[in-house]
Amino acid sequence: MTIRVPDDDHARAGSAHQRSVVPLLSDGLVTVRAFQESDAAGLVAVCRDEEVRRWTNVPDDYTLDMARRHIHQVVPGWWRDGTKQVWAVVATTETAAESGSPSKYLGSINLHAFAFGRAEIGLAFGAEARGTGAAERAVRLILDYAFDHLNLEYVAWRAITGNWGSRKLAWKCGFAFDGELRGAAEHRGELRNVWCLSLQRDEPRSPREPWVG
Ligand SMILES: CC(C)(COP(=O)(O)OP(=O)(O)OC[C@H]1O[C@@H](n2cnc3c(N)ncnc32)[C@H](O)[C@@H]1OP(=O)(O)O)[C@@H](O)C(=O)NCCC(=O)NCCS
Repeated sequence: MTIRVPDDDHARAGSAHQRSVVPLLSDGLVTVRAFQESDAAGLVAVCRDEEVRRWTNVPDDYTLDMARRHIHQVVPGWWRDGTKQVWAVVATTETAAESGSPSKYLGSINLHAFAFGRAEIGLAFGAEARGTGAAERAVRLILDYAFDHLNLEYVAWRAITGNWGSRKLAWKCGFAFDGELRGAAEHRGELRNVWCLSLQRDEPRSPREPWVG
């Protein structure tokens, strides 16, 4: 596994979450890296995916212009001010520079809501990537980074109630189911209940109980 965390400006900037150079993480099959222009079309496809729209707050009618703005302005701004750390997830085999072709965009993953040694993880993968194990690999890379490099104590996982795919992935990675908050998330104009899960730094990253579903 490779975790390349650049020795950049975060100390100067005053917070471990503020960076202008995005860490690159890879387990040999999946690479988690900074967004690039070549991810734009893949990002549009993922944001227009029905499952992604069903469970996340991606804007309606997502366009290439929106994707480009996200890649070049929104995400870099979040990294700079430390609000949110967002990565593109791509298939490693296609990231080799010598391949000459753009790497295959699988989805995105992020850490946000940083507070007192905790952060929340968020993610969205396209139809082709779902069920391939890529999302699990990306989550595990982010957990290593969050606990070993950001020194977080807890990572939280929130999913709209009923998102069993999300809950099962969290379960596979060792997250504890902490309960359900009523009306805790706004989703496309409606208040929805939210499942809350969490993982502490030294806990095993494997299921802690039989699957409930
Ligand atoms: C959530 C997400 C990242 C999970 O990635 P994934 O590649 O689907 O994850 P996995 O296949 O490793 O695990 C999902 C598991 O849930 C299961 N699952 C999916 N939908 C399910 C459902 N409705 N009921 C029960 N189980 C379900 C899958 O079969 C799989 O279990 P298995 O490995 O035992 O077959 C991905 O589905 C996704 O991006 N979904 C749309 C956006 C989203 O929901 N983001 C998360 C917001 S909290």
